[in-house]
Amino acid sequence: MGKSIMITSFKGGVGKSTVAVNLAVGLAVAGYKILIIDLDASSGSVDLFIGCEHDTLYNFFDVTEKKVKIQDAVYIKKAEARKNQAQTQSQAQNQNPDGLYYSLDVLKSPPSYEMTVSFEEALGEFIDETKEIYDYIIFDCPSGKFPMFETLAKKIDYIFVVTLHSAASIRSAERLALYLSENGAKSEKVRLIINCFNPRGVARGVNLGIVDIIERSKIKLIGLVEINNQIRDFQEIGKTVYDLRGKKIRGAFDDIIGRILDKNIILGRKYDGVKTNNLYFKKETKNNIK
Ligand SMILES: Nc1ncnc2c1ncn2[C@@H]1O[C@H](COP(=O)(O)OP(=O)(O)O)[C@@H](O)[C@H]1O
Ligand SMILES: [Mg+2]
Repeated sequence: MGKSIMITSFKGGVGKSTVAVNLAVGLAVAGYKILIIDLDASSGSVDLFIGCEHDTLYNFFDVTEKKVKIQDAVYIKKAEARKNQAQTQSQAQNQNPDGLYYSLDVLKSPPSYEMTVSFEEALGEFIDETKEIYDYIIFDCPSGKFPMFETLAKKIDYIFVVTLHSAASIRSAERLALYLSENGAKSEKVRLIINCFNPRGVARGVNLGIVDIIERSKIKLIGLVEINNQIRDFQEIGKTVYDLRGKKIRGAFDDIIGRILDKNIILGRKYDGVKTNNLYFKKETKNNIK
């Protein structure tokens, strides 16, 4: 029986699609059967980030409205990820025999949120059906609330809230957490991902530390991803961190994947040469911005 995850934020451009796509590919590389669903009607980008924009035909609503069966609707991306020399033996065992090949199923973004059937019922059926087929179903959501936000949040197993490493974005994550708890989403299923984490900013006393962010947002952390221009550049050509030679940035996603798989992965990495325990709190300085 699979698990469903929605990736969301009230604020736009915080990296939801980046996180969704890299987690989907990472889990697929680890040998799991994955479906990624783009729910962003206005600025869907999953197909672009995965590099299959000319191949995807069907969207989520085509399936929920029973125009096409899920098995016929998905575009199956088959690809090879770059071998990561640093992977542990247990990770390697989890992978396909050659350790490189992966397969990932994709539903592209819908043109609108109009539906001719009851969404609540259709979503329930969709989730039950896809959980029989997939290990993980990942919904990449648009920014803010959208017509089926609350229904999805109720039915989903995990809600990952993505925030940038900035005060305004953290405030927006806090508001989302409050909204979710007021609408009955249990806090155990809500987790925070800090994206574009900037260790130097913390060390200089400009950005909030990791614990500061957790306390402000009131969401438990599942991982952080550093700011890294290669992520953005690779995305432009439809590639993910699993196509990158360096293992550093891939590690951020592998850590989150490990935690999704219930492994005990501590926040013990060095970020930009700074040990994690020096990044918990914002550094107090007389004049923080120099
Ligand atoms: N960790 C990161 N480091 C550098 N750039 C990033 C990172 N995460 C996302 N980006 C860039 O930020 C922009 C917005 O990301 P995107 O995933 O489209 O956000 P959203 O889905 O929340 O609107 C993209 O250009 C993306 O490449
Ligand atoms: Mg997006």
